Amino acid sequence: MDISTIGIVGAGQMGNGIAHVMALAGYSVTLSDVDQDALDKAVALIEKNLDRQVSREKISAEERDSALSRITATLDIAKAGATDLVIEAATEQEAVKHKIFESLAPHLLPHTILTSNTSSISITRLASRTDRPEKFLGFHFMNPVPVMQLVELIRGIATDKETYEACMAVVDRLGKTAASAEDFPAFIVNRILVPMINEAVYTLYEGVGNVRSIDLAMKLGANHPMGPLELADFIGLDTCLAIMNVLHDGLADTKYRPCPLLTKYVEAGWLGRKTKRGFYDYR
Ligand code: CAA
Repeated sequence: MDISTIGIVGAGQMGNGIAHVMALAGYSVTLSDVDQDALDKAVALIEKNLDRQVSREKISAEERDSALSRITATLDIAKAGATDLVIEAATEQEAVKHKIFESLAPHLLPHTILTSNTSSISITRLASRTDRPEKFLGFHFMNPVPVMQLVELIRGIATDKETYEACMAVVDRLGKTAASAEDFPAFIVNRILVPMINEAVYTLYEGVGNVRSIDLAMKLGANHPMGPLELADFIGLDTCLAIMNVLHDGLADTKYRPCPLLTKYVEAGWLGRKTKRGFYDYR
């Protein structure tokens, strides 16, 4: 099946990056959110990131302008639903995601493929509450979306071959690479990455190192581009905690228990870069 129109629900950190790469690859994008301020910020950020690509000669000014012209930002979720492929990119809370798929339902076209950019929640469970579990797939981008090469594609138990292949063709057109993952808690990347971040928080909690030494150790000692605490701030501490809870609940193994210090930071509203305070202070 040929995909030309993409609906994205959620204009946050991931939604705006997905809109950016989809528009640049020539897709017509409808970006929807419940908050006009979030939409305005997303469009401004897409413009800024496209400008950065122009200034580094990755794309031309014409490509930037035509990508921007292909993005429609709207408060009307119906417009995002009436597309060939919908990507839900809202906050990592299962109840919110179910509600979004319910709101989309009356507006979908018969052939619309539904996907979620969830970083950890069961695709099979999300799909089972829609009218088309066979046309439902996990479509998981990495942050920052315009830079990271990988997309995880996660088949739910009912996902059909045609849906998987149509989404694989989209990944190819984006110039990205897909890794196929089975539908188990947090899939591949976050099953490995987020427990590592959680362990770094334990290392801080137990006083093995301070924030600087922990990040320095992993940057210079393991060649990671960012230290784990810096990366946690970048991903969002609320998202890291949500993923640990999915692993802990879904795999019922105490090795996935979230570090109490991570929980405390989230309870304080210190969520990392997005709130200007996390393990580092961005104020
Ligand atoms: N849009 C477009 N381009 C961007 C960008 C954005 N948002 N952010 C960075 N870039 C580009 C820069 O322009 C630069 O391009 P050039 O190579 O042409 O110079 C390049 O990316 C590198 O950026 P910087 O020079 O500004 O900074 P850096 O070298 O420190 O790299 C980074 C920044 C790419 C974020 C790097 O630190 C990195 O790879 N960090 C790890 C990121 C990571 O692990 N992401 C996965 C998170 S987990 C996840 O996403 C899954 C989940 O579900 C939680």
